[in-house]
Amino acid sequence: MSDFLPKKDGYNVAVLGATGAVGQTMLDILAEKDFPIAELVLIASSRSAGSSISFKKKDYIVQDIEKFDPLGLDIALFSAGGGTSLKYAQLFADAGCYVVDNSSAWRMDDEVALVVPEVNPEALEMAKDNRIIANPNCSTIQMVVALKPLHDEVPIQRVVVSTYQAVSGAGGKGIKELSEQTQALLACQEAKTDIFSSRIAFNVIPHIDVFMDDGYTKEEQKMILETKKIMGSDIAVTATTVRVPVFYGHSESINITFKDALNAEKARSILADASGIAVVDDPSGEDYPTAVDAAGNDSVWVGRIRDDASCENSLHLWVVADNVRKGAALNAVQIAEILIAS
Ligand code: A2P
Repeated sequence: MSDFLPKKDGYNVAVLGATGAVGQTMLDILAEKDFPIAELVLIASSRSAGSSISFKKKDYIVQDIEKFDPLGLDIALFSAGGGTSLKYAQLFADAGCYVVDNSSAWRMDDEVALVVPEVNPEALEMAKDNRIIANPNCSTIQMVVALKPLHDEVPIQRVVVSTYQAVSGAGGKGIKELSEQTQALLACQEAKTDIFSSRIAFNVIPHIDVFMDDGYTKEEQKMILETKKIMGSDIAVTATTVRVPVFYGHSESINITFKDALNAEKARSILADASGIAVVDDPSGEDYPTAVDAAGNDSVWVGRIRDDASCENSLHLWVVADNVRKGAALNAVQIAEILIAS
């Protein structure tokens, strides 16, 4: 792959949504990776403009997006919601900056690359024209990381996925709502419901994002359409997406039917060798990945790998990842790393 940005000692980087759950994690990951930054700009809405955020022991004043001029930036990591991305991504791109957008605003645009570095880095070539790159949905990212190495061995015909998604997928407000409801209920007080459609504490809600006319939710539609855009339109995908009272880490039960035979033993060895994946799969030791293990961690964890006894050429997988890291912030920073690689 040829270069996107000229080689420099440091790049001018902006994080839009720097005060949010994903934006904060983007900053953590940029610091952990010692990403070469010349100038860092932290941006949010007028609500938090003027507040201060520390990065590598230096304090930065949060800028108001409405007053911000993107000229001179090399890379902007956006995580401030779809409306904000629709309003500002093109403006930043026109100013010469590569935008890596975590919202759903640009994902299904035919002109925009939808990229998971372990799966389809070649799609990034498209970004040379328009400089906007979309980060897939958190549930899609961890699923395609697990599917791709298996699909390369034997093509996948159909995927049936059910998700168990953490409240941090709904941002800082989701984390706050689970925390406050749990504390209220344990103190025998009323639990107030604000951003989730039902009480999330001590409950499971089969509803993420809005309902579509066909009975699927938009979150389910995202998983279906994004997987096809990333891996190929001939893979049939169906999904049920569910919010569970977990702070960090999405879990997925995935049933895969292949076009030919691929047994669990072979799948286990392929996944163990694949980039970005950690296999934890020892039923005799009761060893399998859980959201608590995956939280704060960069791998996509796979366990419970077994042949589906009910259907030919089919397997079950249990796939867990930190939705804020690999499902959002880490994936975006990995894309930025490709943009600066020679
Ligand atoms: P702000 O702190 O000013 O509200 P989360 O997903 O954790 O809720 O975080 C959302 C992030 O997106 C926050 O940093 C928030 O900034 C930012 N944000 C939300 N709406 C806007 C907007 N209209 N313009 C700019 N930033 C926004």
